[in-house]
Amino acid sequence: MRTQIKKVSEIPGPKSKVILARRAAALPAGLGKSTEVVVEKAEGALVWDVDGNQLIDFAGGIGMVNLGHRPQVVIDAVKDQLDKYIHPGALVTTFEPYLEFAELLNKITPGDFPKKTLLANSGSEAVENAVAIARYYTKRPAVICFEGAYHGRTMLTLSLTSKYGLFKKGFGSYAQDIYRFHSPNVYRRPNSMTEEEYIDFCIERFDQNLISHVDPSAVAAIIIEPVQGEGGFIPVPKRFLEKIRKVCDDHGIVFIADEVQAGAGRTGKFLSIEHSGVIPDIVTMAKSIGSGLPISAITGKAEIMDAPHLGGIGGTYSGSPIAVVGALATVKEIIKPEFLDRATHVGKIITDRINAMKEKFSVVGEVRGLGAMLVVEFVKDRTTKEPDMDFAMAVIKKSVSNGLILIRAGLYTNCIRFLPPIVITDEQLHEGLDVIEEAIQEVLNER
Ligand SMILES: Cc1ncc(COP(=O)(O)O)c(C=O)c1O
Repeated sequence: MRTQIKKVSEIPGPKSKVILARRAAALPAGLGKSTEVVVEKAEGALVWDVDGNQLIDFAGGIGMVNLGHRPQVVIDAVKDQLDKYIHPGALVTTFEPYLEFAELLNKITPGDFPKKTLLANSGSEAVENAVAIARYYTKRPAVICFEGAYHGRTMLTLSLTSKYGLFKKGFGSYAQDIYRFHSPNVYRRPNSMTEEEYIDFCIERFDQNLISHVDPSAVAAIIIEPVQGEGGFIPVPKRFLEKIRKVCDDHGIVFIADEVQAGAGRTGKFLSIEHSGVIPDIVTMAKSIGSGLPISAITGKAEIMDAPHLGGIGGTYSGSPIAVVGALATVKEIIKPEFLDRATHVGKIITDRINAMKEKFSVVGEVRGLGAMLVVEFVKDRTTKEPDMDFAMAVIKKSVSNGLILIRAGLYTNCIRFLPPIVITDEQLHEGLDVIEEAIQEVLNER
């Protein structure tokens, strides 16, 4: 029995199809869309399309609305700000909301040392700035990133990104002095190794790469997503993060944690790296810190953040007061213990339900992640772990047409990711999971 999803037409319905045709004619073909949902309005974890269908949202704009669609506190803050000024420019004037937001991030990000925050407009820009500042501070050129990483679509961040076929094909050549190391994927470790042996192996390989790929003395920064996002929601083992911290300490390298997707309370802590106790030098944040408003932040050790010369950083739109007041209202809600606990609760419901599905369906290889940042990975065979991309895509297609917004993830495109708004009700969550369970069964029946 569906109470949250209300279908009045097929999805996409007739009005949606007209708009989708206009989209195809007016927008570049390369601009992807994971679903054919054409939105009329959205609230909390629900989305209504232009045909009047009511859908549940498990994608949240790719983790952009942890606090839900249109949180009242954000609407109020933005409306209030619109009555004062829109953007006098942070390179021309000073306005208090920017400072207040920076002060908050300086306080709540890990590390008992003086910090400073720079604001930008997107996750990619945050990463660009973090790397540029690290290079300036260390006076070194090289950056170490990891297999499976996603850091954005600007030239530098695309250079740091993995998954060539989807993200990089045709756009090269890429930035120099980028060195990609192996990143632990415990699920896909060799069958002969225990988890701990595999992590040891990854640490040894890391040391080897510091000889074979690049020398630490040339390295400005090591950038890592503490829970790899696009790569398939792969939590990086604590010992591996500790290893990076040690190498950075030993060689004066800047440790950048990219929390663009895993941050903002998604995993049950404000930043996902807090689960490990490892303290990065710089963190990059975006997506849900702004509840959908374009804003990102780079927060780091004051000494590092202060390195670039006067006028060397910043941008016209950066720190837009409209986005800043929305982000300030958002982050104040996110850091409340009840919100962070809710993320853990949402994650537990999803994990329990998918683990129960794993008992039933051998095509479910694994459910993994941290807090409410979870994926289910589909495989053709549990022993060989051969990825089953077609299965994942078929489940997504069926679920969306049944009223659940879902998106894929993973280096092999064989995972479905769960990024529902954390404010989703238990009822909505269970109903969405029912849709997935039924879709898995139906796809299996059709095979
Ligand atoms: C970890 C990570 N870093 C950076 C980015 C790039 O962010 P944006 O799309 O806002 O440029 C993303 C986007 O998905 C991301 O997941």
